[in-house]
Amino acid sequence: MPDKQRKILVTSALPYVNGSPHMGHMIEYIQTDIWVRFQKLRGHNCIYVCASDAHGTPIMLKARELGITPEQLTEGFSKEFIADFDDFGIEFDNFHTTHSPENEAVVGTIYSALRESGDIYTRTIEQSYDEKEGMFLPDRFVRGTCPRCKTEDQYGDACENCGATYSPEDLIDPVSVLSGTTPVTRESEHYFFKLSEYEERLRNWMSDATLDKNVVAKLDEWFEAGLRDWDISRDAPYFGFQIPGTEDKYFYVWLDAPVGYIASFRNLCDRDGSLNFDDYWSEGSDAEVYHFIGKDIMYFHTLFWPAVLHGAGFRTPTSVYAHGFLTINGQKMSKSRGTFIKARTYLDNLNPQFLRYYYAAKLGPTIEDIDLNFEDFIARVNSDLVGKLINIASRCAGFISKRFDGQLSDSIPDPALFAEFAEVSEIIAQHFERREFSKAMRQVMALADKANRYIDENKPWVTIKDENRSDEVQLVCTQGLNMFRSLMVYLTPVIPAVAEGARAFLGEESWCWKDASTPLLGTKINKFKPLLTRVEAEHVQALVLQSQESTSVPKDDSNDDDMISIDDFMKVDLRIARIEKAEPVEDADKLLALTLNVGDSTRNVFAGIKAAYDPESLVGRHVIVVANLAPRKMRFGVSEGMVLAAGPGGEDIFLLSPDDGAKAGMRVK
Ligand code: 2FM
Ligand code: ZN
Repeated sequence: MPDKQRKILVTSALPYVNGSPHMGHMIEYIQTDIWVRFQKLRGHNCIYVCASDAHGTPIMLKARELGITPEQLTEGFSKEFIADFDDFGIEFDNFHTTHSPENEAVVGTIYSALRESGDIYTRTIEQSYDEKEGMFLPDRFVRGTCPRCKTEDQYGDACENCGATYSPEDLIDPVSVLSGTTPVTRESEHYFFKLSEYEERLRNWMSDATLDKNVVAKLDEWFEAGLRDWDISRDAPYFGFQIPGTEDKYFYVWLDAPVGYIASFRNLCDRDGSLNFDDYWSEGSDAEVYHFIGKDIMYFHTLFWPAVLHGAGFRTPTSVYAHGFLTINGQKMSKSRGTFIKARTYLDNLNPQFLRYYYAAKLGPTIEDIDLNFEDFIARVNSDLVGKLINIASRCAGFISKRFDGQLSDSIPDPALFAEFAEVSEIIAQHFERREFSKAMRQVMALADKANRYIDENKPWVTIKDENRSDEVQLVCTQGLNMFRSLMVYLTPVIPAVAEGARAFLGEESWCWKDASTPLLGTKINKFKPLLTRVEAEHVQALVLQSQESTSVPKDDSNDDDMISIDDFMKVDLRIARIEKAEPVEDADKLLALTLNVGDSTRNVFAGIKAAYDPESLVGRHVIVVANLAPRKMRFGVSEGMVLAAGPGGEDIFLLSPDDGAKAGMRVK
């Protein structure tokens, strides 16, 4: 038990589950997990919650594109996140989702409290509207020419060339990304939160929250520019929570996402009777609440979020800890360079403990970016973890096992040296507490050097040859193993799996931070097994290669997002199908209904080829079909695949029709 046990609730940003986890994501979760494990090791009551961020337009549209429900899409990616987190040793006390009844309830409570306090009002605004798709367009879904520098094909909110910010309506020749049509401007009533009235309260919060100076500078900049009220509503169609009392208005995803922190905790309280929700979230709570986030979402966490909590009568966060982005070999992650690395590809090739250590060795409390340089990664892991740390144990363990039946001596020969390891305990703890992980790692490795020097000077491998000096060997090796043990206790939050192996080897049940300051004497240890092996350059090369392969090689990086990987392509089940029946579809100008024989079954598919083909001429022809496309419900029925055709459209569309000899059901290689 620490002198005073703290009650701490910690969160990482809720991952947006419209894609797979990558190495950039892992910085935050590893950073938070290290901090949480450190607090737990110190004996504090620390709870770590997270959830999937599962609402919003991008998720709705991606699901639509794939012909699945948003729930199916987000559940699939959530599973990937959960599996990868688990394998990287990220230990949440709860992982929930924002698309949950708990979240809807807390959002409802917050919204009615804000209405009551007069913080919500409605105003009619003008927005770009896609008439073909029947929906209002988020800024990023409109592209056009920058009104300032005239660069073409810019997003609707900002120009990548000159940095101008504007609204989509200001673009020259705007085009909807969804349909390619020109958006019109339409009016709609929106709900606003009066952020502008919160400046003083936010300034007070900021001075209490001990924020990093870069975060404070950003906040000052925003205060200087003046706080604008926040639009918290979106029009249907939208995937999210409906605003109570409306027919077609939804809460903007950024309102319900941070509420997901509270809802995940609520979900945990509902399962764990020892936790009291109000102890953590009511105004005046004595618990500490910390949000770990990336520097790109500071605005939401340091302005909107504390203001909303304040207005709704909840406690505000104790602090918000922002980190920088990941660069790989000094550059932004890039698919063509093979440095857009999925978390899973890393796990397929390298030990997750290595990355945890490497990130820790680079992390500080600022928003500076973190560079993962592969040469440096190999050198550091091999030299620090294997060459220095594990080496201490492997140089001493064999003698104790073989010559002393695993028995440690009852005392250490150099208590003053051991005291040096114990005395820095609080300094290292302060580094962890302040998220100065790189300083903590430097300190630990400096001690590892000391331990190795001690073994070098005392040379147990020489002494062992002299029968009269065998006690000395036991003493020296007990000293060495105790120094190793203290360092492993300090590293437990960083490389928990390695620490667990070390603890088991030393025959101990559990460790707490204070154990690093008292030596383990007179007990029996277990046989030493190598706790880590070196990183080989080939493994890193394989990682890069697989990342390149799994993302294919676009000609230029700006097109990265348009490319599919060979893995994506391999997922497509292309088969030869025989058209058994073809007929026009009533009320559909472009469609033919085809009945296809795909070998093992028949499928109904709607194909937009009516202008190009007379239905009768198609019967008996072979075509290529995507046989594993999720069924899609259309106005006229369900379409169970897609027939491949190419051409500009209308009458000029050509079915891909294999040569004679093709048989229905054949797979296309
Ligand atoms: O930036 C993101 O990926 C968001 N999904 C983070 C949300 S954090 C919190 F507010 F939920
Ligand atoms: Zn511009």
